[in-house]
Amino acid sequence: MAARCFVVLVFVSFLVMSVSAIASNSRRDSFSTIKQLSREGPYIGLITVFSPEEEAFFRTGAFTPDVKHPFVDLSGRRYRVGKIYGKKVVYVRCGVGMTNAAAATQQMLDLFDITGIVHFGISGNLNDSMSIGDVTIPKQFSHTGLWNWVNPNGTMDPADAAYLEVGSYNVPEGDGVNLLGRIGYRTEELFSVSIEPNTAVSLWWMEVSQQWLQLSRSLEGMELERCVNSSLCLPEKPKLVVGLNGSTSNIFVDNAAYRDFLFQTFEVSSSDMESSAVVMTCMSNGFPVIVIRGLSDLAGAESGDNVIHTFGSLAALNAAKAVLGFISKIPGYNSPSQHYMLTAKGLIYIGLLTVFPPEENAFLGTGDFKPNPGHPFVDLSGRLFRVRMVKGKNVITWDVGLEWSVQLQQDNKCWTCLI
Ligand SMILES: *[C@@H]1O[C@H](CO)[C@@H](O)[C@H](O)[C@H]1NC(C)=O
Ligand SMILES: *[C@@H]1O[C@H](CO)[C@@H](O)[C@H](O)[C@H]1NC(C)=O
Ligand SMILES: *[C@@H]1O[C@H](CO)[C@@H](O)[C@H](O)[C@H]1NC(C)=O
Ligand SMILES: *[C@@H]1O[C@H](CO)[C@@H](O)[C@H](O)[C@H]1NC(C)=O
Repeated sequence: MAARCFVVLVFVSFLVMSVSAIASNSRRDSFSTIKQLSREGPYIGLITVFSPEEEAFFRTGAFTPDVKHPFVDLSGRRYRVGKIYGKKVVYVRCGVGMTNAAAATQQMLDLFDITGIVHFGISGNLNDSMSIGDVTIPKQFSHTGLWNWVNPNGTMDPADAAYLEVGSYNVPEGDGVNLLGRIGYRTEELFSVSIEPNTAVSLWWMEVSQQWLQLSRSLEGMELERCVNSSLCLPEKPKLVVGLNGSTSNIFVDNAAYRDFLFQTFEVSSSDMESSAVVMTCMSNGFPVIVIRGLSDLAGAESGDNVIHTFGSLAALNAAKAVLGFISKIPGYNSPSQHYMLTAKGLIYIGLLTVFPPEENAFLGTGDFKPNPGHPFVDLSGRLFRVRMVKGKNVITWDVGLEWSVQLQQDNKCWTCLI
């Protein structure tokens, strides 16, 4: 009996060991594929949340899979590799919620050679001047689900961004004390490459990249879909709006009173469950990021059931169309031929870096610069690198932009990939 038990035990532990061995082997294989792929980078990182968004994106037909490595599986997620309009992209569906969003974003930034992240999908609409089917490209996001939840007579933390008194929503009003008390909205703690290591700053707004937001303004007025199908259309033409505030929490907001509280208190026009996590992760790592969300429902202000099941596909399609528009506007940083031509002859360049145009202009005003006749400039990651000769030496000049601190890592990266 004892011997049989022993045999069973050994067999089970052998099984467990071989399962974990398979897992670690496939993880190693994935890492090695990603390493190969990254040598051919950089890629624009694309992140959606759930299947309807993914389906809308692939149905546009704009994505062409890589012939050799159409996808890599890692940590249970599938990273799809390919091109859109000739630009290299890597795409992943992260799954619902902020944990999934942050984990997938961090993994993508760590492993692939990434220019920046375009996060897209659908969201609830909190702003009565916006409509279902519209696309929002917010300036910044707040995480409205990091709470201090205290007793009715509890002391609120003065550092909180706002308070919600649950008893204020009693019906009839003022009828007794609501034991659920009050909620204080805490700020996030941001760790970032642009500040002292191991030191977090308290932050309420997570801002997308100014440069990419600016680039997206050229999409305003673009044509968006109005009809779900031949019999169901929106009353008005949807619009794309850049620069609003958005909110994120691990809560599917489907409640009119809470919707009003969010809009009035924080001036946020949309509610989703991932964006601020993606933006915060990109800020931490110093990468450009933009968020493009189609409005699928009224977050509980509908007269009947939430309309996400009716309009979700249309909202997802409009977000995907805006993403394609945005990708087409990103300057052609991935034209390796330019890099090769500039560096092929073993030329060495001195890199001259200024912060903003007045400085660059003053510098150029000294008048000793001769543009490279074949390649006077290279566009890379949304920046213009000018290739010149100064006193017989080859130089490359560029402005890092005012948000240089957050993007310094990215600059280093692009500089090395250019060299
Ligand atoms: C809160 O304080 C008031 C008076 O300050 C008191 O009457 C009430 O019982 C307290 N409520 C709770 C739930 O502690
Ligand atoms: C976004 O929030 C900021 C800070 O609360 C506010 O000043 C600004 O007006 C808001 N933006 C919009 C478009 O409402
Ligand atoms: C609501 O959306 C409109 C655009 O349709 C915008 O002009 C307005 O600033 C938004 N309100 C807030 C408080 O963000
Ligand atoms: C159009 O979509 C709506 C909502 O999903 C559905 O109820 C309706 O049957 C559809 N009509 C057609 C013609 O497909």
